[in-house]
Amino acid sequence: MSTDTSARPDFDEIFAPDEEEVEFITATSAGKPDHSPIDISTKAFWAKTSEERDETFKLLRETDPVSWQKPVEDAVTPDPDDPGYWALVKHEDITRVSRDSASFISGQGVLFDMLPAIFLQMSQSFLAMDAPRHDKLRALVSVAFTPKQIKRIDEDIRTAAKEIIDDLVAQGPGEVEFVSTVAERLPVRMFGDMFGVPEEMRATVAAAAGDVVAWCDPEVLGDRSADEVQVEACTILHDIAEQIIEMRRETPGEDLFTSLINAEIDGEHLDDFEIGAFFVLMAVAGTDTTKHTTSLTVKAMTEFPEQKAWLLEDFDARIGVAIEEFIRFASPVMTFRRTAVVETEIGGKKILPGDKVVMFYPSGNFDSDVFEDPWSFDLSRKPNPHVGFGGGGLHFCLGNQLAKQMLRAMFNELLHRVPEFEVGTPELLGTNFMRGVKRMPFRFTPAG
Ligand code: HEM
Repeated sequence: MSTDTSARPDFDEIFAPDEEEVEFITATSAGKPDHSPIDISTKAFWAKTSEERDETFKLLRETDPVSWQKPVEDAVTPDPDDPGYWALVKHEDITRVSRDSASFISGQGVLFDMLPAIFLQMSQSFLAMDAPRHDKLRALVSVAFTPKQIKRIDEDIRTAAKEIIDDLVAQGPGEVEFVSTVAERLPVRMFGDMFGVPEEMRATVAAAAGDVVAWCDPEVLGDRSADEVQVEACTILHDIAEQIIEMRRETPGEDLFTSLINAEIDGEHLDDFEIGAFFVLMAVAGTDTTKHTTSLTVKAMTEFPEQKAWLLEDFDARIGVAIEEFIRFASPVMTFRRTAVVETEIGGKKILPGDKVVMFYPSGNFDSDVFEDPWSFDLSRKPNPHVGFGGGGLHFCLGNQLAKQMLRAMFNELLHRVPEFEVGTPELLGTNFMRGVKRMPFRFTPAG
C-alpha cells in the first residue's frame, strides 16, 4: 500500500487557509474591564526567571486572581483584533476550568492566540479537540500508557538510564553540558522506541519538537517569524511520520505507528495526516517536558542539597513522593488555554462565550493557599496536588506515568552513581509556553 498524502494540506498555505474547518467563536472586548496594570503578556515578563515571575503572579493571586490581560506579545500569529484573555493564577480556578470541559473547550486552540484550524489539526491532534472526537483519538494511544504497559517497559527505561549515566561517569570527574549529555537522552530514546523511530531520525525529531515549544525564543527564531518556525518544525515532523508510515505499511512492527495505521474510529482508518499530527503532538509532549524537568530538578538539588541527601538516604521508599515535588517545582508547561462556550463566572468575573481563559500552571503550583512555603523544594511534601500535568479532566497528561517512570530511573542512576554535583548558571528558554533549560554546566564527581 502506498503512503496516502492526499489528506495533507499544502504547508505553505497553513497560515492563509482558504476555509476553516473549525467554527471559531469570536471573543469581544464588550463588557470587559480595562486590561490589568499588572501585565503578564509582555516579552519582558517572560524573559524573567520563574522566581521573578512568581512575584508578579503572587501579586495577582492576592489582588486580582482572575485578571483581564492584553494579548500576549509573543503570539504565533499576532492579531490586531484580539481583545485579550482572562488569566487564571489560582490553583482552585485552574482545576475548576480544567475539569469543566463542557463550559471551557479546547477545540478553539490551547495556546494564547487563535491559530488557523489546519494548524491545530496538523500539530496538536486531540490536545486541541473536544469530546467525542478527543476521547476516541486519545483512546487509540492510551493503551500504550497504562500503568501495566509502563511497567512492562520499565526494564528498557532502566537500561537506557543506566547507559546514559555510564557515558556520563566515563567523562568524570569534571564538567559537562548537562542537557545534551544527560537530560534529553532518555525521553528521546523512549519516545523513539514507542513510535519505532529509526535511530538516524531521532536527533532531527528531537530538534524539531524542541522548536515547536520554543517558537518565541530569540535563538530559535533567528531571522524567522514565529509562524515560520512552527510550520517548518511541524513539516519536518510530518515528513518523518510519512516516511515511517510507509515503512510500517511494508513491514509492520510492534510500535505506535503500526497500531495507528491499523486503528479504526467509527469504522474508518486514520489518514496519514492525522497519524502525522498524533506524532507531532506526542513528540512535543513527550520529549521536552521530561528533559526540562530533569534539568530543573538537578538545579533544585544543587540549591537544596539537604533534599538530595534526604532522598538518597532511602531512595526507593521516598522517590514516589519526591517525584511529585520534581514536577511541581519544575512546572515545565507554563500555560494552556480554554475557550468559554457558556456565560459563567470565575472569581466574581463574568466570563462570556468566546472569551479566552488561560491557565498559568506555575502560578497554581506556587499558590500558598494550597502549598505551604511554596518556594521551598520539599521532597517529602505530601499531599502534593500540583497542576504540573494539568488540573485534571479530559486532557490530563496522558504521559504522566511514563514521565514519572523515566524520572525515577534517571535519578536512581544519577544520585547513586554521581552523588556529588553542582550546576552552573543555566541558559533558560525565552518562551511563554515551556519553562526550560537550553544548556547548563554540570560539575560532578562519580562515586568512588
Ligand atoms: C514531566 C513531564 C510532563 C509534563 C509536566 C506534562 C504536562 C502536560 C500538561 C500540562 C498537559 C495538558 C493538561 C491539560 O490540558 O489539562 C499535558 C497533556 C498531554 N501530555 Fe504531558 N507532560 C509530561 C510528559 C508527557 C509525556 C512523557 C508524554 C508522552 C509520551 C505526554 C503526553 C501528553 C499528551 C498526549 C497530552 C494531551 C492529552 C489530552 O489532550 O488528552 N506528556 N501534559
